[in-house]
Amino acid sequence: MLQNKNIILGVSGGIAAYKAANLTRLLVKNGAHVKIIMTPMAKEFITPLTLATLSKNPILVDFYNPENGDWNSHVDLGLWADAYVIAPATANSMGKMANAIADNLLITTYLSARCPVFLAPTMDLDMYKHPANTKNMETLQSYGNFIIEPESGELASGLIGKGRMAEPETIVEYLENFFSQKQDFKNKKVLITAGPTHEGIDPVRFIGNRSSGKMGYALAENLANRGAEVTLVSGPTSMNISNLNVKLIQVNSAEEMYLACAKCFPEQDIAIMAAAVADYTPKEYLDKKVKKKTHNLVLELVATKDIASELGKIKKAHQKLIGFALETNNEEENAKLKITKKNLDFIVLNSLQDKGAGFQTDTNKITIITRKGDIKPFELKSKQDVAADIVNEIKNLF
Ligand code: CTP
Repeated sequence: MLQNKNIILGVSGGIAAYKAANLTRLLVKNGAHVKIIMTPMAKEFITPLTLATLSKNPILVDFYNPENGDWNSHVDLGLWADAYVIAPATANSMGKMANAIADNLLITTYLSARCPVFLAPTMDLDMYKHPANTKNMETLQSYGNFIIEPESGELASGLIGKGRMAEPETIVEYLENFFSQKQDFKNKKVLITAGPTHEGIDPVRFIGNRSSGKMGYALAENLANRGAEVTLVSGPTSMNISNLNVKLIQVNSAEEMYLACAKCFPEQDIAIMAAAVADYTPKEYLDKKVKKKTHNLVLELVATKDIASELGKIKKAHQKLIGFALETNNEEENAKLKITKKNLDFIVLNSLQDKGAGFQTDTNKITIITRKGDIKPFELKSKQDVAADIVNEIKNLF
């Protein structure tokens, strides 16, 4: 499966760098072309000669080769690669990647790469769990990078816990699974809404909600990786997406989201309404900041357009419309009503009664309810895996 794939292996300076030798051997054995970038510190853990011999390519460490003055172009490297695997990925390198601190070739190449990036973290258990590190890893994941989880076991420090870099066999299997992903949504156009909307009150205030956008972005990533041409209409979030198959349209208010969706819906095959659209917006937008008064302030709100319902009204027979329902009570009953009201093909139910489901989490627990009334509950999973389940269900509609 890795036959003729161009892979950059980035080796940063941790004790697990010794595993890079076996990883290189396995990648080459599986048919990949491997170029290796080492951080200066990585050279203290494993010799460049070992990795150069195994990869059959010179090792890249510096921006230029002092022997012949050749420039090692991080831009060309980034464009050459089908995948960039950083193994081991130390806390230091991940911190730099998350914050664009481009002080070595491994990081500049990361910032220039357009291909999928896979990180195999390695560190001591307390470093791994430190909020600074977990925040950096979350940031990197939100940029669409894949984290190949470390394993638990005895660490170099002698402590026992999570932090051991995934075994080279696991990393190769992960890459094979990624590349064998079917292009089963090729030639399909998909519209996805994501995130919250912000309804302006005055130039400094708005009404919003706690949606992080993670579910919608995970759906966009999954569908784009499966060949779909995705238009992602997103409210304000801290999420990023760099997939070339995704066209991102950023909006603020429910009205802007509606206009963007209404414009492109006729040419779509599928629309997934994952945004938490505000149901109400201030009747009046005040163009000067509202000043504090001694008495209470009454804000009059008017209903926004229900985007899902509006698209449901103009939906053609070949088009599929998927909605979400976030419920706190009478979940299934409410969700079923929304299928009919909004003319959906199926609905994805999130219950706020389920721990780990809903807003601002990395996980979700869903139940898919079909138009016919079939109820399919799923386990608690990462939003990436939930996205894959939803996309598989969409495939069944065709
Ligand atoms: N939705 C939408 N436009 C709106 C409100 C909701 O497109 N103005 C979509 C959501 O993206 C979701 C579905 O409709 O796919 C259901 O949203 P939800 O907030 O659960 O339901 P509402 O219809 O807003 O009803 P309620 O808030 O009363 O549960």
